[in-house]
Amino acid sequence: MGPIKLVIDTDPGIDDAMAIFLAAVSADIELLGLTTIFGNVTTDIATRNALRLLEAAGVDAPVAPGAAMPWGDWPFEPSWEVHGREGFGDIEPVTPVTVPVGESAAELLTRLAREFPGELVVCPLGPLTNIADALVRDPGFAGNVARIVLMGGSLDEGGNITPHAEANIYHDPQAAEAVFASGAPVEMVGLDVTHRVTCTEEDFDQIAEASPELGGMLKRMSEYYLKFYRSVGKLDGCSLHDPAAIIACTHPHLFETRDVPIRVVTSGEEAGRTEAAEDGRKPTKVCVTVQGPEVKQLFLDRLAQLP
Ligand code: BDR
Ligand code: CA
Repeated sequence: MGPIKLVIDTDPGIDDAMAIFLAAVSADIELLGLTTIFGNVTTDIATRNALRLLEAAGVDAPVAPGAAMPWGDWPFEPSWEVHGREGFGDIEPVTPVTVPVGESAAELLTRLAREFPGELVVCPLGPLTNIADALVRDPGFAGNVARIVLMGGSLDEGGNITPHAEANIYHDPQAAEAVFASGAPVEMVGLDVTHRVTCTEEDFDQIAEASPELGGMLKRMSEYYLKFYRSVGKLDGCSLHDPAAIIACTHPHLFETRDVPIRVVTSGEEAGRTEAAEDGRKPTKVCVTVQGPEVKQLFLDRLAQLP
């Protein structure tokens, strides 16, 4: 079997940067493109950062800008405190040489899913607005994609942006609900597992030593990210949320899943909470446990191959 055909939908974002470099160096992934979304930063900044990451990694793939705001009149405020004003902690912004493609995120997603029916894997690492837009744009999208392996949600772990909600789902609860209700082949890599894959300052030292250029860039970003984790009392390192989702695409055997129909609370105090649905909708493959040390080791081993 050849490499998986992958599109990453992303809001870079420090752990998104880690995930994109990981995908770039993974021989079992053919990266067909990035689509961008608000979340950690605005969509404009996410697009700029996505281009910068691909340039740094030497990857020639299209970057398609996505939606600027959530569905409905849901308010949006970027997660500045976690990722910094420009998305990469204290690293200064750089204007990329390359430019986004003319297609929108939903156009690129639906076109590639039609071009590679049953083959395309989509890995959303931010709010699910572009994925929901793709489902609306092309009713065949849910049947054309092979897998939608998303970082987001939580089954038994509670939230991280509110006591009830994980950040990616919280930033657009209505779009997330549309995706979980769509019948598309959705796999949820949520906080139940990503909280069990962590990296410390020493791990990032090791990454920078093995890969001075790109690993060094991640090390500098990680300083801001680790500082945020310490500020909320998490002293055992930062979660590799988004890299864990990439690894779930290529190494599903490192995750134990349970089939649970998922719905999203779309308003009120618990907005963004993911919970079991009882309306007969198609189950989501929810990752419930993870071989954390193995996932982390794979991450370290692969990043060590970067320049
Ligand atoms: C998710 O939210 C964002 O801050 C991260 O990049 C990750 O995708 C974790 O809840
Ligand atoms: Ca993200």
